[in-house]
Amino acid sequence: MLIAKGIHKSYGSLHVLKGVDLEITESEIVSIVGSSGAGKSTLLHILGTLDQPDQGELTMQGKNLMTLKGDSLADFRNQQIGFIFQFHNLLPEFTAQENIQIPGYILGTSSEALQKKSGELAEILGISHRLDHKPSTLSGGEQQRVAVARALINNPSVVFADEPSGNLDTANAKGLHELFFKLRSELKQAFVIVTHNEELAGMADRKVVMQDGLIVSS
Ligand SMILES: Nc1ncnc2c1ncn2[C@@H]1O[C@H](COP(=O)(O)OP(=O)(O)OP(=O)(O)O)[C@@H](O)[C@H]1O
Ligand SMILES: [Mg+2]
Repeated sequence: MLIAKGIHKSYGSLHVLKGVDLEITESEIVSIVGSSGAGKSTLLHILGTLDQPDQGELTMQGKNLMTLKGDSLADFRNQQIGFIFQFHNLLPEFTAQENIQIPGYILGTSSEALQKKSGELAEILGISHRLDHKPSTLSGGEQQRVAVARALINNPSVVFADEPSGNLDTANAKGLHELFFKLRSELKQAFVIVTHNEELAGMADRKVVMQDGLIVSS
């Protein structure tokens, strides 16, 4: 489903990614671990088309992502890729449900369909009773589950998560990790998760270890 080959990235004279090869298959959960500065977030941003490699090939669902630019790249990203970050980045002036639906509005999905889909996701994620609330009145764990629902609203091929539980206490982190596996079994959702959490990394189907800009085991 996703194939990255020979990915290189430098920031000035700093060679951050030194030829990364990675394949992700349908409904697979892959964790990426490695010490700080190894290049995990840089790789995730490139796989998620938020950043461009200096060299390498990237294909998703058979499409060569290196040839997509501007609006067509943004459309592809909005349809095929979901993101979950350490800090949820929810919009404070909108309710949980509105936040979940925003990527769907951008895609042009009808509000009826979005209402239905956000309701279903909220049900799976256990936040149905909090949908009318603004983010500031939700707990950290609830906010992060809203961010997960938002990442899933357009049925992406893959969700990229960068330290999604990094800002949660142990119980909420565990709850979030269990949800990833529930979403995979119920929606066949693929996840690529950068984490410093050894327990989560170990739960994944595959653990990719990065060291100094390279994958050293997977
Ligand atoms: N936009 C940028 N400009 C310059 N240097 C950058 C930029 N982004 C990342 N770097 C550098 O690239 C290296 C890899 O950064 P990256 O964020 O990918 O690491 P990481 O593995 O995600 O680390 P952490 O576990 O701390 O999040 C670091 O040395 C970082 O300082
Ligand atoms: Mg990082």
